Amino acid sequence: MKLMNHLYMVAGVSLSHPFDATAYLIEGDSGLYLLDCGTPNGFAQVVENIRSLGFDPGEIRCIYGTHGHYDHVGAAALFQKKYRCRLMIHEADAWQVETGDPVLTTAELLYGNPFPACNVDGFVKDGELINFGNQISMCVIHTPGHTRGSVCYAMDCGGYQFLIAGDTIWGGYSEQIGSDAKLWMESLDKLTTMHFDGFSFGHVGANVIADADRRIMDARRQFGVYYNPWFKVMKEDFRY
Ligand SMILES: [Fe+2]
Repeated sequence: MKLMNHLYMVAGVSLSHPFDATAYLIEGDSGLYLLDCGTPNGFAQVVENIRSLGFDPGEIRCIYGTHGHYDHVGAAALFQKKYRCRLMIHEADAWQVETGDPVLTTAELLYGNPFPACNVDGFVKDGELINFGNQISMCVIHTPGHTRGSVCYAMDCGGYQFLIAGDTIWGGYSEQIGSDAKLWMESLDKLTTMHFDGFSFGHVGANVIADADRRIMDARRQFGVYYNPWFKVMKEDFRY
């Protein structure tokens, strides 16, 4: 699904598999890039989605993960193996991805599946600027809280300021996965000082949310009220 010029949504509940968080494809001027990549359950459909948009998955250069959870980067090992692309993630979530920790990655905890352990090829850092060409660039914002290594990607898409929030907005809270309420509130405070024209997050479905500044302010205000609307154990109530 096309979101805007050179930016697509390729994974998510309605696009690939009910376990998959939203994932995005960037058409750079010298290759393709994924922001998150879904689960192994949705891998084949995500690849098909990329092909049906007219792109060759063999051109994927790198996956930038928002954090080290199964629904966001569980398929990274499959992409690495088949397409030889790199995985970049924040250092604080790297260990759980490299070891496939069944709880910290939520793979067993929420989905009843193993996490395919995956090499992390490098770390994204707060404030880092990444330019893809085609008038698409992004700045990494470290936003710990949901996990210690959660990041948001603040994209500039030809002048449209678009935030990819991962699970920093409306993600689930659990001390089992290292969530920290104080850090999370500080991260949301940081986001409310910035301007975005639109945003999207991990479990929103195929959507761009406009009126971003006020909606992000709402998420900050409601933190601790709704707390974890999506934090249900998928392995218990999902049926194939
Ligand atoms: Fe998550």
